[in-house]
Amino acid sequence: MKDAKASSGRSRFGPEIPLIDLRQQHRALQPKMFAALRQVFDSSVFVMGPNVRAFEEEMARFCEVKHAVGVASGTDALMLSLAALGIKHGDEVLVPSFTYTATAAAVCHLGARPVFVDCLPHGFNLDPADAQRRITARTRAIIPVHLYGEAAAMAEILALAQHHDLYVVEDVAQAAGGRWEGKMLGTLGHTGCFSFYPTKNLAGCGEGGMVTTNDDDVADRVRLLRQQGDAAAVGGSKYAHPAVGYNSRLDELQAAILRTKLPHLESWNGFRQEHARQYCSRLKDSGIGLPALSRDGSHVYCLFTLRCAQRDEVKGHLRERSIGTEIYYPLPLHLQEAYRYLGYQEGDLPVSETLSAQVLSIPVYPELTSEQVDRVSEAILEFVHGRARIETEEAIGR
Ligand SMILES: Cc1ncc(COP(=O)(O)O)c(C=O)c1O
Repeated sequence: MKDAKASSGRSRFGPEIPLIDLRQQHRALQPKMFAALRQVFDSSVFVMGPNVRAFEEEMARFCEVKHAVGVASGTDALMLSLAALGIKHGDEVLVPSFTYTATAAAVCHLGARPVFVDCLPHGFNLDPADAQRRITARTRAIIPVHLYGEAAAMAEILALAQHHDLYVVEDVAQAAGGRWEGKMLGTLGHTGCFSFYPTKNLAGCGEGGMVTTNDDDVADRVRLLRQQGDAAAVGGSKYAHPAVGYNSRLDELQAAILRTKLPHLESWNGFRQEHARQYCSRLKDSGIGLPALSRDGSHVYCLFTLRCAQRDEVKGHLRERSIGTEIYYPLPLHLQEAYRYLGYQEGDLPVSETLSAQVLSIPVYPELTSEQVDRVSEAILEFVHGRARIETEEAIGR
C-alpha cells in the first residue's frame, strides 16, 4: 500500500502525531530557559558551577534522598554507581535482558559480567524468581530497571538482595518522579541512576544523568570518580588523585535548563497518567495488550507500550496515519551481537524474546491533547476491527 503520509508530516487522516515532541514544552518554557542560559553565559562558569550545585540540591529534595550527584549521562550514572560500590572485573551483576543496552554496557565497562534475567510473564520488568535462579558465588549486584516508567517488583528484589547480600542499583532512566509504595524510585536501593536524555520524563537539551543515594560514602565516591578522581571533589587537595576517575560531570548549561523543568515534572507525569487512563479506557476491549494502569500515581509512563501479535502491521497502519511509534526494544540484550561472548542462545529467556516481537510504544508525551489520544486510539481500533472483519470473511469463505 502507498504511504499516505504527505511530505509536510500530515496525512490524509490528519496532522502528524509524533511519538515524542519537545517543541511545545520548550515554547512554553523558552523565556525562563533562555534567561537561565544567559545567566550562565554572563557568568561564563560552564563546569561545576552554581546551577549544578543547586540542581543537585533540588533533585535531592524532590527525590526525598540525602545525595543527588550530577553526572554526564544515565549510562555514566550506572557505571559510576557500580564502580563506587566496588564492582570490578570477575563480578557478576544481574541485569534484565529486556532493557536498553546501557544497563548492561555499564557493567561491561567495569570488566564485570552481566547475567541476563528474564521478565515477569505479565509485565515488562525483571522476574525476581528468575534472578534468584541465576545467582552464583560471584554475584555482587542486581540492577532493577523501572522500564517504561513502571516500578520493578521491588519487594521481592529487595528481599532477594538482602538474603544474598547484593547491591541494588536502580535504573530510573525511564521513571523520574515514579514511586513504589509511596517512596520515590531511585531511593529504594543503594543507588538510583537517572538519565536526562531528551526522551525521558525530565528531558534535558542534550546529555545528562544523576546518581541518588542515602549513603554518604557512596555519594563521595561518585563525586570523586566523576571528576578524574581529584581529591578536591570531596574536600581534599587539588591535583591529588586517590583514584583513577572519569570525566563525567553534569554540564552547567544542562543543569540550568533542568532547573527550569524540574518544578513541572509532577504535573507532566500527571498528564502522562491521564493519557494512559484514556488509552486504557478506549482500548480495553480491543484485544490489544495494555500496560498496567496505575491507580496510585506510581507509574509515570515515560512510554505507553502495547503488546500485540500483529505489531508490525499495527505500526504500519499508524505510520500511514502519521502517528509516530517505536519498538523499545526489537531484540533482547542476550541475543545482541555485543553480548554474544556471554554464550546465550535463542530460547534462553523466552518472555523477553516474546516481548521483543510484540511491543509497540505509542505517543504519551504530556502536551498531547485528549483529541490526539482519541485519534491514536481510533486508529488502533480501526486496525483491530478491520482485522476482525477479514478474519470473519475468511472463516465464512468469502
Ligand atoms: C533503561 C535505560 N537505562 C539507561 C539509559 C542510559 O541513559 P543515557 O542515554 O542518559 O546514557 C537509558 C537511556 O536511554 C535507558 O532507557
